[in-house]
Amino acid sequence: MSLIKTINLVPLGDERGFLVVFESNKIDSVPFEIKRVYYIFDTKEGVARGFHAHKKLKQIAVCVKGGCRFVLDDGVEKQEIILDSSVEGLVIEGLVWREVYDFSPDCVLMILASEHYDESDYIWDYQEFLNEVS
Ligand code: TYD
Repeated sequence: MSLIKTINLVPLGDERGFLVVFESNKIDSVPFEIKRVYYIFDTKEGVARGFHAHKKLKQIAVCVKGGCRFVLDDGVEKQEIILDSSVEGLVIEGLVWREVYDFSPDCVLMILASEHYDESDYIWDYQEFLNEVS
């Protein structure tokens, strides 16, 4: 099974440049209600982030600038993807452990999320995650 599910974002371009649109609840855009958007930037060299899973949250990650490497793990296997395109979105849903590495100095990683921030939705302990998925 592929853990890596991506969507191609359609850049709208003209002589001025490009823009990308996200719309909630659209199969060919964002297939959930966007309740939260955040972005990660200025990540220091050698830093890795994530190291958690979510019980309920759905997310789309877009590297708007620069690049980084996502490792997704469903408890059985790990798959990775380099996100380095502002027109590719990584869809993360279901019980998946995520780790993010190799942020370029200029990386701006934007996350669209289906829920407001909720600490109780996080699983921070890898063994607990394995127990949940088994
Ligand atoms: P953290 O969960 O460590 O980020 P990552 O997903 O990259 O591991 O979040 C960093 C801090 O920001 C932490 O104190 C929680 C806080 N935070 C919020 O307050 N709201 C949010 O929506 C997010 C994602 C994080």
